[in-house]
Amino acid sequence: MTDKKNEKMSRRNFLASAGGVAVGAIVAGTGLSLSSSEAEAGGLPEYPWTNYFDKKLDVEKVREKGTKYYHEGNHCGEATFRALTEELGHPFDKVPSQTMWFGAGGGAGWATLCGTVNGSGAAFSLLYGRTGDTMKLTQELFGWYSETPLPRKENSSQAKSVAGNPLCHASVTNWCEASGKKSFSQERADRCGRLAGDVAAKAAELLNAKLAGNFVPAYEIPEEAKECMNCHTKDSMLENTRGKMNCTTCHDDPHDS
Ligand code: HEC
Ligand code: HEC
Repeated sequence: MTDKKNEKMSRRNFLASAGGVAVGAIVAGTGLSLSSSEAEAGGLPEYPWTNYFDKKLDVEKVREKGTKYYHEGNHCGEATFRALTEELGHPFDKVPSQTMWFGAGGGAGWATLCGTVNGSGAAFSLLYGRTGDTMKLTQELFGWYSETPLPRKENSSQAKSVAGNPLCHASVTNWCEASGKKSFSQERADRCGRLAGDVAAKAAELLNAKLAGNFVPAYEIPEEAKECMNCHTKDSMLENTRGKMNCTTCHDDPHDS
């Protein structure tokens, strides 16, 4: 081993074992920039990565992987993110999918945002960064999820249900009602596994449309909710709510009587 290589190795070992603050100080002190050390390690290219998405995704492969990873302990959030980023390939697949593991059960089991749309939205965000495209794709996926009978599996007697909003709580509980199954049953887990595949696949379809230049948002906020928003949302009389979920999935019309 040459001295030079030896020196490099030991510096790397030191960097790898030192704490975060110390690393920052050493990096600054030696003029070794983070990006060059990453390049050295065969790491990540400069962000943004949008241009690395240059060929159509295999939608059915994404669906298959979403379901598979769900059952391998990735749960809904990581399974969808992983299925998408793996199929997107380099450099997307270098981002540890564990980032989205917390999404399980609508966020550590809180049943808030469904992990399947959470993980897919994270992939959109990774691809398009802080742009309107990220928001439009995410909005379209959330809207589709809210209104589509899921799981999608055709030609089966499998119970399907419509969540009405992107919440795990509404999604799971409406499905329990439709299927007669319990929320902690194996059947419910199987159903959520299929959702991971279906939602990741839908996300892949949206991305393919975007790549082909023919992505046209189709989701419309339902009329009944728009009406509520006339008085309750931004720049309205009350401006005391925000959001795009259909109000009537949770509030019976409080102004009815
Ligand atoms: C024409 C305007 C208007 C529309 C349309 C409207 N609201 Fe309201 N809403 C109000 C006003 C005014 C109040 C009373 C606010 C207050 O007292 O602070 C209110 C109060 C509420 C409250 C609190 C209820 C309570 O008992 O205190 C809820 C919940 C609510 N609205 C939901 C909705 C939903 C859901 C819709 C659509 C289905 C809707 N609103 C449509 C004007 C409107
Ligand atoms: C996922 C369920 C959900 C959806 C969808 C939803 N809300 Fe609510 N909303 C709540 C909850 C929960 C509260 C808090 C109720 C409480 O603390 O008593 C609340 C509170 C409110 C309040 C204050 C109620 C009060 O008693 O003063 C208003 C007004 C309101 N929501 C309007 C809306 C409007 C308008 C929409 C649609 C744009 C909407 N909500 C969508 C669940 C929902």
